[in-house]
Amino acid sequence: MREADLGEVMAIEAQAYEFPWTPGIMRDCLRAGYCCWVCVLGERIVGYAIMSLAAGEANILNLCIHPELQGRGLGRKLLNRMLMLARRHDADTAFLEVRVSNEAAFALYDAAGFNEIGVRRNYYPAKEGKEDALVLAKTL
Ligand SMILES: CC(C)(COP(=O)(O)OP(=O)(O)OC[C@H]1O[C@@H](n2cnc3c(N)ncnc32)[C@H](O)[C@@H]1OP(=O)(O)O)[C@@H](O)C(=O)NCCC(=O)NCCS
Repeated sequence: MREADLGEVMAIEAQAYEFPWTPGIMRDCLRAGYCCWVCVLGERIVGYAIMSLAAGEANILNLCIHPELQGRGLGRKLLNRMLMLARRHDADTAFLEVRVSNEAAFALYDAAGFNEIGVRRNYYPAKEGKEDALVLAKTL
């Protein structure tokens, strides 16, 4: 992902999430040198993933496929690519947080071998109040 991609990336972010990241957060991830990748079909950006790497730990901060193209195996492919990159950077564990209500994402991570290691209470904004996050981890 490059700064020039942010327009397309943010358009997907806005459609895919009820509470999307701001362009500033996305730009900060790029500038911080996080592992930021886009998933491209033909000329079109159809998804992206963002991961931080430090001290042997990979944190998958965002993984998103355009709503029109979900359910075709792209999310799994992108996740596997990020896990491969994490291994290449000598990370031994991958972590991520997922909304309790996000069944599709949980099923993807569960099938990929992530285990639930904790809960962050009231972690996400929600329509009414806050929503818990499940903390998932996978040994690489
Ligand atoms: C979560 C997300 C990345 C999955 O990507 P995707 O391309 O739709 O998923 P895939 O087609 O690769 O499916 C992989 C697995 O995920 C699970 N899955 C995907 N969509 C699902 C759904 N609607 N319901 C239940 N499980 C689902 C299944 O286990 C599936 O494996 P299967 O096809 O063998 O059953 C995508 O739905 C998305 O971008 N959602 C919005 C953003 C988001 O919530 N990101 C995760 C933040 S933690």
